[in-house]
Amino acid sequence: MRSEHATPVRPREQGTAGSATAVAHPNIALIKYWGKRDERLVLPRTDSLSMTLDIFPTTTRIRLVPGAGNDDVTFNGVPATGEAHRRIVAFLELVRERAGLAHRAVVETENTVPTGAGLASSASGFAALAVAAARAYGLDPDATALSRLARRGSGSASRSVFGGFAVWHAGTGTDADLGSYAEPVSVADIDPALVIAVVNAGPKAVSSREAMRRTVDTSPLYGSWADSSRADLAEMRTALRLGDLEAVGEIAERNAFGMHATMLAARPAVRYLSPATLTVLDLVLRLRRDGVPAYATMDAGPNVKVLCHRADADQVAEAVRHAVPDGAAYVAGPGPGARLLDEAGR
Ligand code: PMV
Repeated sequence: MRSEHATPVRPREQGTAGSATAVAHPNIALIKYWGKRDERLVLPRTDSLSMTLDIFPTTTRIRLVPGAGNDDVTFNGVPATGEAHRRIVAFLELVRERAGLAHRAVVETENTVPTGAGLASSASGFAALAVAAARAYGLDPDATALSRLARRGSGSASRSVFGGFAVWHAGTGTDADLGSYAEPVSVADIDPALVIAVVNAGPKAVSSREAMRRTVDTSPLYGSWADSSRADLAEMRTALRLGDLEAVGEIAERNAFGMHATMLAARPAVRYLSPATLTVLDLVLRLRRDGVPAYATMDAGPNVKVLCHRADADQVAEAVRHAVPDGAAYVAGPGPGARLLDEAGR
């Protein structure tokens, strides 16, 4: 580990900013994070690699309220309840502990993902919250420390701290917590796009947290996928460095299929893929046969993300809309990392 990566989040001598607003974008993994080795610290079993999107940002504003008894959390103006509320409060507790401050906060989050788009907002959500909360509570983390902090909210959030492509290191050695953070990956110009094919807007039956746990605990395929995923990552880095979109797509597709195979072999099975998912997967094969480089990846849900060249993205999106008439398709390119906004929201 390089020494600058060892900088812990540290209290700011100047004290707190009291309030802050931050924006972050979702990311889609091309090499998946699937399986934790430490649930409390959110340490993954394998490294993963993703592209941050330029659509569907989450904006989070936080204001400390000295003397308040509770944290007041809203999503798009609606009070958070249950598990969503519990996760935000647990994250704020971690920040408060590091800052040595007890103040509760008002947290207002605006998600721009169309309702039911099936895109996880936890990556953009916890990346934005990490940036805003660190500032409001007077911490002064560098980007690496921010990534580690976001990781504690949701593993994939560690990658949304960065724009473009990012790799999240699983972290090894005596202090795995310190070693588990994301950092940018340099990529040759491949002009990539991800077409987000929304085939089913319903809530998922099994949370990714529960599905990961069940897969690691019961799937006889998990160990082999984890081993092949390590090899996939090495090949993916080479393909990105060389700017070989077709290799990037092939590796991403097999990594995602392998991840879903581990879940199908879990006991009981976790199956996120629906008939409409398979319709899009067939379409992706047809596009390739017709000479359009297009490759699929799927996460903890039935929707498909199709990796292609930006120049082909509108054609791919149109083909998705035609194949799944009651679905939707959105075109995304590589987007920016998480950042603070000023008073004017810029
Ligand atoms: O960060 P979580 O707990 O929402 O897990 C995300 C897991 C996948 O989206 C399925 C894969 C990934 O690497 O993003």
